Amino acid sequence: MKNRIIICLLALFTFQATAKEGMWIPYLLGQLNQAEMQEMGLEITADQIYSVNNSSIKDAIVHFGGGCTAELISSKGLLLTNHHCGYSQIQSHSTVEKNFLKNGFWAMSSKEELQNKGLTAAIVKFMKDVTNEVMEGLDDDMNLSERGEHIQNNIQAIIKLRSEESPFDFSIVPFFYGNQYILIAKETFKDVRLVGAPPSSIGKFGADTDNWVWPRHTGDFSIFRIYAGKDNKPAEYSEDNVPYNPNYHLKVNTNGVHDGDFNMVYGFPGTTQEYLPSNEVHNIAEVYNPARIDIRDRLLKILDKRMRTSEASRLKYASKYARISNSWKKWIGERNGLNESKGIERKQKFENEFLAAVNSKSSWRNEYGDVLDQLKKLYDDRRPAQLERYHYIEIGYYGIGLSRHMFRYRKLIEEAEKEDPELKSIADKLMEGMPKFHESYEPEIDREAMHQLLPIYIAAISDQDLTEELKMLKSLSDEEIHIYIDKLFEDLIFLKDPKKFAKLMSKKPKKAAKKIANSSAYKLSIEMYEHFRNVLNPRVSSLNEKIEFYQGRYLKALREVFPDKRFYPDANSTLRLAYGKVEPYHPKDGVTLNTKTYLSGVMQKYVPGDYEFDLPAKLLELYESKDYGVYGDDGKMPVCFIASNHTTGGNSGSPALNSRGELVGLNFDRAWEGTMSDLNYDERICRNIMVDVRYVLFIVDKFAGAGYLVDEMDLVHHVEAKVEEMDTTNP
Ligand code: ARG
Ligand code: GLU
Repeated sequence: MKNRIIICLLALFTFQATAKEGMWIPYLLGQLNQAEMQEMGLEITADQIYSVNNSSIKDAIVHFGGGCTAELISSKGLLLTNHHCGYSQIQSHSTVEKNFLKNGFWAMSSKEELQNKGLTAAIVKFMKDVTNEVMEGLDDDMNLSERGEHIQNNIQAIIKLRSEESPFDFSIVPFFYGNQYILIAKETFKDVRLVGAPPSSIGKFGADTDNWVWPRHTGDFSIFRIYAGKDNKPAEYSEDNVPYNPNYHLKVNTNGVHDGDFNMVYGFPGTTQEYLPSNEVHNIAEVYNPARIDIRDRLLKILDKRMRTSEASRLKYASKYARISNSWKKWIGERNGLNESKGIERKQKFENEFLAAVNSKSSWRNEYGDVLDQLKKLYDDRRPAQLERYHYIEIGYYGIGLSRHMFRYRKLIEEAEKEDPELKSIADKLMEGMPKFHESYEPEIDREAMHQLLPIYIAAISDQDLTEELKMLKSLSDEEIHIYIDKLFEDLIFLKDPKKFAKLMSKKPKKAAKKIANSSAYKLSIEMYEHFRNVLNPRVSSLNEKIEFYQGRYLKALREVFPDKRFYPDANSTLRLAYGKVEPYHPKDGVTLNTKTYLSGVMQKYVPGDYEFDLPAKLLELYESKDYGVYGDDGKMPVCFIASNHTTGGNSGSPALNSRGELVGLNFDRAWEGTMSDLNYDERICRNIMVDVRYVLFIVDKFAGAGYLVDEMDLVHHVEAKVEEMDTTNP
């Protein structure tokens, strides 16, 4: 008896997703989560969060540009998202004279708002399980590719039918590795205008040094507005369009958050891999990522050294640096976090429990007995080719700048061989793009990168199926490789003599094409890519098909063998709700990190003139005069806070909502120690980072003088909440 109790407790501890883990499908909240959420403090119902028949919070949640989240905060289509999500739009409107990235941008009336070509804002109308329809006609005799093809055909047919019946954009997305398919109907708005953005010294304060770090002091927000046709439906950009009037917009709560508060994040998380077997988590954290980290480490060091000493280099490479360092830093945190939280051991333990359960029943044993072993074997079989792929991605794609640039000549070279009469116009077009290339390219930096990275790539690829240039390189000593690289740069015509190259391109494009085609830079770049595409990718994708299949079987088995456990599907860029609490954490022994930061902390980090930690004069003034208006809290200005919501990339810009579903913050990052939540969430150290909405309002109103935007919102301040709190502190 005693043993049984211990076993049950153990099972509870290891099987049960913690209350805070999970990114839940909104239409299942009533069934799966409502009771627990209310227990944790939620004061509204699942139906108020997601409903198809009535307006609900869902109608205010926007997929912003396909990669971020945003939320509607007024009846006139006002849209809030992160500064880093609006970054490329802000940048696209910036010039040397009007540098909105540097100085911020504020439309002081609707006429001053700026159009953004290609930017979309999509709102989910409804989601529906269509698993049976998608699976219809599948039979057991089909092999994996036949299955896949059949499923794709069914999906296309369903979408076609739906699209004929209604005006929405439809997609069908697999969940739980193809155990479930959900139809998603969206309304996609195409006229989304820029309304306001703080200067980068606020919106990107702390930049890469503070990225993924708590405590944080970044005002990472920007504001847009959705426009619709006169019928309030999506329309292409037109001056006649009107502000979109949404079915629902969020109330903005200015009470602030307190430790222990219920908190939820509603948005479009991109990718997680929570159901990998332990060996693949090991492959990722201990094999692939260390290789990738090492490569990026070298590259970042080269960039950093130059960027610190040359303003010109900094301008050229700031965005590449930010892009490369974002995942680099995350992977380092992920690996540490897995070690710290014994993530792999926890997975192994779980797998043993799974196997014990499977073996306890003969029908399960017959059906699922070998699933986990097969899956593990497939992942390990894939490892060598996968590791080579990552070497190409890191070195050929991200690392060496030239190797991507050389592709641009491919068309020219191919057409030159065909004696294409359009050759001149192809060459002209290429030359038009040249200034842009030179704007973010420095041969010295790239040469150094190639010296460091090419030998790593050459050593990492196996001898099999190599083409000429790669085979030749593989036979060279390290010293010879360095000589080869120097010569490659010296011989490259557009670096050696840009003017001569420009002339050749305009007068004799065929000759120019030939010159490029014969350069080592071109041969190497193309061969590296072709090796990736024609050799490595096929090696991996034949296994991927099987892996997908066995992951699906594994998930099916898990759900059958542990019927009492709630499973949430991995993130796949569909609408999800995560919920947790505002709570501190212990990143290491003896250290507790509090939940909130203030403007005084921004000032502590201030380094005048620094490119990451400088501040605008106006903010310093407001801080000196403590002019926080109604947004301050006891004489202090709140800036950011954390909670235990399970979030990932794509959740940037997602609203953080309180127990009443009111906006209290804007999600933009996670704390470094817990970034392994993409593979294995642990509520002890996983925290998401949000801007306090009061800081957003303060910057809009007091800093930018765009108070008319705040007037447009529905601000709420619950007096009784304050009273309750006073009661507990003064019994
Ligand atoms: N870490 C955040 C995310 O994953 C913010 C990235 C943008 N900021 C930066 N400093 N690179 O997207
Ligand atoms: N910054 C991330 C994004 O752009 C969110 C942080 C995370 O990965 O949780 O979506």
